[in-house]
Amino acid sequence: MFPTFSLFSLALLAAKGAIGALLTDPTQLTTTTYDYVIVGAGTAGSVLAARLTEDAHVRVLVVEAGRSNEGPDNANIRIPFNAPLASPGTSFDWNFTTVDQPSLNNEPEPYPRGKVLGGSSSINYMVYTRGSADDYDRLAAIAGDDGWTWENLHPYILKHSSIVAPADGHDTTGEFDPAWHGNGPLLTSVAGYPAVIDPLVIGTTQEAAEFPYNVDGNSGNPLGISWAQSTIANGTRQSSAIAYLWPALNRPNLDVLIHTQATRLIQTGRTGATPIFRSVEFATGPSAPRFRATARREVILSAGSVGTPQLLQLSGIGNRDALSALGINTIVNNPDVGEHLQDHPFIPLQWEVTSNETFDQLFYNADLSAAALNQWNTDHTGPLSTNPVMNHIGFLRIPDDNAIWQENEDPSAGPNSPHYEIAFGNCFVTTSAQTVPSSGGFMTITPIVVSPSSRGYVRLSTSNPFDAPLIDPGFFSDDLDMAIMIEAVKASQRYVATSSWSNFIIGPYIDSANTTTPEGIIEYTRQRTATTRHPTGTAQVGKVVNGDLTVKDISGVRIVDASIFPHVPSAHTQAPTYIIAERAADLIKAAYH
Ligand SMILES: Cc1cc2nc3c(=O)[nH]c(=O)nc-3n(C[C@H](O)[C@H](O)[C@H](O)COP(=O)(O)OP(=O)(O)OC[C@H]3O[C@@H](n4cnc5c(N)ncnc54)[C@H](O)[C@@H]3O)c2cc1C
Ligand SMILES: *[C@@H]1O[C@H](CO)[C@@H](O)[C@H](O)[C@H]1NC(C)=O
Ligand SMILES: *[C@@H]1O[C@H](CO)[C@@H](O)[C@H](O)[C@H]1NC(C)=O
Ligand SMILES: *[C@@H]1O[C@H](CO)[C@@H](O)[C@H](O)[C@H]1NC(C)=O
Ligand SMILES: *[C@@H]1O[C@H](CO)[C@@H](O)[C@H](O)[C@H]1NC(C)=O
Repeated sequence: MFPTFSLFSLALLAAKGAIGALLTDPTQLTTTTYDYVIVGAGTAGSVLAARLTEDAHVRVLVVEAGRSNEGPDNANIRIPFNAPLASPGTSFDWNFTTVDQPSLNNEPEPYPRGKVLGGSSSINYMVYTRGSADDYDRLAAIAGDDGWTWENLHPYILKHSSIVAPADGHDTTGEFDPAWHGNGPLLTSVAGYPAVIDPLVIGTTQEAAEFPYNVDGNSGNPLGISWAQSTIANGTRQSSAIAYLWPALNRPNLDVLIHTQATRLIQTGRTGATPIFRSVEFATGPSAPRFRATARREVILSAGSVGTPQLLQLSGIGNRDALSALGINTIVNNPDVGEHLQDHPFIPLQWEVTSNETFDQLFYNADLSAAALNQWNTDHTGPLSTNPVMNHIGFLRIPDDNAIWQENEDPSAGPNSPHYEIAFGNCFVTTSAQTVPSSGGFMTITPIVVSPSSRGYVRLSTSNPFDAPLIDPGFFSDDLDMAIMIEAVKASQRYVATSSWSNFIIGPYIDSANTTTPEGIIEYTRQRTATTRHPTGTAQVGKVVNGDLTVKDISGVRIVDASIFPHVPSAHTQAPTYIIAERAADLIKAAYH
């Protein structure tokens, strides 16, 4: 008995050393050498962790600055309707702020980014849109790699996600096209709870030719009005942590280290003139001890559009003058690192409505909201099971004969790509700057410029990795974006002027009363603009990374996250991020075959 027991515990100990684990402090690491070290367990990083560890012969470490997505306090990142409570300024968020925006009355704006397993996919608004075929074809052209075209990405589009029944189990016939959906781990669905505005939104598509119904905007042609698909299944948020990371944590070859921030990449050698960076330094706080891990194959940066360029600059890869000014030794002078940040600005346009059945009642009536929470806790159905910001989404172009095109080139990726989006909210949807009314019924359209020309940056503020970088999305620094926003507002107003809405709309909410002239729209936009939280382009293909996402002028490092897009896709950016991460995993596997 005794010897058997002793052998058994030895076997257990041995297994423990080899089993993959969620580690909460660098002192728990049992090795510092891995095949791959991934920085960031976010949207892209979790896909890579899962796909690379499919090969039992490789060992992967993921270093994540944030917390676990699990825990007794995680209701606001599980309950779909609570998505607006997941950020900013929560324990799941980096709590960044932009620099003052000259076009927004010199105000700074909150700039949420997920700091949690799953990254921004754990705190986002769950809208699932892939963008246009043109978006990917333009990426492929810039990358000089046909593998990035929509057609050639098709296997990855089907590989990462699938569409499942919505929480209310309603008949979804005609609400999406099954042919465009695969059998991947990320589960999506159309609206899981009806909104009173649903028939009105659809009604307009039947009476106004400029707003055609599109059965599935995720087919490569997003133009028109569609049922919105969301990363929600079983009435619960789906994220890359839930879909990819946790299932992979059952494998013995994956270690995920949370509460630990990468502070820089370390040069480990040189091949000819090319510096090699295969080590990552990390720490749990500004004055905590520094630890290191080294990759036998490569380091993969998946720290997102803010974290990735910040880390490159901290490692001496960036603009020599800017780095020298902060006392950082430049190893690779690349002035494009952190520059060209592109994001989607949005404004909320609310109307007062005759109905008392909009979601607003949940905010005013404690009994109703308690009943809704009770229902969600019971079986994950009811109003809390659905996306709070939209059941429908529209992607539209400004017509070719509009005067705008006499003076400006078309900034979209191609003829099937939108200039702006309008999304339909069944309540008073707003940004942090606006006071929410305490009674009444409302509906909201959120016009978003999805083909922006404005560019900004992510630059270091100091050489301390724990200091937030300077973030400038440069909203409306290019006048074309404001011209597009004006057209988007006018289209939104035409939408609710169709006869479908005649017994429903009382009038524009008082704050937007002046949006009847271009000057009034500009004034309103300067007051009300917020980020749609779609930063991209800060480590973009062609300027910072090559077509295969390896970093230019160094070896040992690849970047896989939303920072690589040379143009922000005309979409909410999570699906494009999942898609490029799936292909990147195959590129990496092939590189070491
Ligand atoms: C509030 C919000 C709402 C959004 N709504 C939508 C939406 O409805 N639909 C949609 O499609 N998109 C939405 N987005 C955008 C979308 O979620 C992102 O584009 C996408 O998730 C980006 O993925 P990523 O892998 O590039 O970065 P992330 O998912 O942000 O992952 C980066 C990870 O790296 C970690 N990290 C950063 N720096 C370090 C470091 N130095 N060391 C260690 N770890 C580090 C971060 O903590 C994070 O976990 C939203 C985003 C936010 C923040
Ligand atoms: C977020 O930042 C704001 C201002 O920058 C600060 O007042 C607030 O305390 C921060 N919140 C958290 C949770 O860190
Ligand atoms: C959905 O929930 C049901 C019951 O709550 C459970 O049996 C099922 O496994 C869940 N499905 C998914 C995909 O999580
Ligand atoms: C809406 O008004 C109707 C008629 O007055 C009433 O029966 C119903 O209970 C109200 N619904 C809500 C959610 O307040
Ligand atoms: C509308 O414009 C007038 C004149 O510029 C201004 O005084 C007023 O504050 C504006 N109203 C709103 C709601 O912005």
